[in-house]
Amino acid sequence: MSTGAPPIPRVELAYAPTPLLKLERLSRELGVELWVKRDDLTGLLESGNKIRKLEFLVGEAFAQRADTLITCGTLQSNCCRTVAAVAARLGLRAVLALKGAPPAEYDGNLLLDRLLGAELRYCSDAEWEKIDEVLEDLAAAVRRRGGTPYVIPESGATVAGALGYLACGEELAQQIRHGAPDFDSVVITAFSGGSQAGLLMARQLHGLRAEIVGVPIAWEAARVRDHVTSLIGQARRRYGLPVEAPAEVRLLDGYQGAGRAAVQADALRTVVSVARAEGIVLDPVYTAKAFGGLLDRLRGAPGELGRRVCFIHTGGVFSLFPFRGALGPLLAGDGLVES
Ligand SMILES: Cc1ncc(COP(=O)(O)O)c(C=O)c1O
Repeated sequence: MSTGAPPIPRVELAYAPTPLLKLERLSRELGVELWVKRDDLTGLLESGNKIRKLEFLVGEAFAQRADTLITCGTLQSNCCRTVAAVAARLGLRAVLALKGAPPAEYDGNLLLDRLLGAELRYCSDAEWEKIDEVLEDLAAAVRRRGGTPYVIPESGATVAGALGYLACGEELAQQIRHGAPDFDSVVITAFSGGSQAGLLMARQLHGLRAEIVGVPIAWEAARVRDHVTSLIGQARRRYGLPVEAPAEVRLLDGYQGAGRAAVQADALRTVVSVARAEGIVLDPVYTAKAFGGLLDRLRGAPGELGRRVCFIHTGGVFSLFPFRGALGPLLAGDGLVES
């Protein structure tokens, strides 16, 4: 990133640039050009948006000479699984604090966490309420055994993590300069809004013309906006980046449903229909909710996001498998021949 500021520690991990694909059938149906940037293909186990965040988080960890990455999330956390994969790749240790009891069998991301050799600490609801203390205790235990911990908050939602999507936005700007469509809008799933904050910074620093639009899938819009604004302010103060929080952080609000963990039939229907229309598999917790919201808006108000729209697929496919029970009935009654 050539911003004139001192270099920011970074470890290159993502397989990038990720491809841009036009969704032909959905574009025809909606009367807009709808594209997807395949950030689900960032590599190291199809790690999605988290690997871009980890480039900077691990950069910071190495600058502190850390040898153990500690983080927290749900049993099916994509971030935890990516931390486990990166730690195994780089010869570090991973310690994951997971919300919930040990399940009867490992599945999806949790299966991969175990496979990759992460240490797991299951947390009760009461412990999860004070997760910062749990993380601090885990860090203290690492120090006691002579290691150096680096703690990554849930979802990598720090200013260092947001730089991963500043890099993604820079990459997209380059793809556009090399002939990709000059998108009117770039739409991304927002849990904490960290990824959106990174893209908003890229818009200012790397000449992306597109409007950057987030789709909150769990937090209320006001909380996402506050987090985005705060991260951009921190990036200016901490790294000297010449960025300002925009007057309006644009969100497509109202698609949170009952929150992150509560996956609804709507999201699973979106997973099925997009897989069949375009051969792209979304995850039910994040991207299907956000992409479903985007499709809803494009159907209700065509033109609202311009003529060329790019959705960034931020990954998460492994969490699909534990939903096999709920997906089964959607597939069983579809009239396709099974013999
Ligand atoms: C697949 C996927 N997409 C999007 C997000 C949201 O990222 P952010 O917290 O940067 O908004 C996450 C992480 O929580 C995720 O796992």
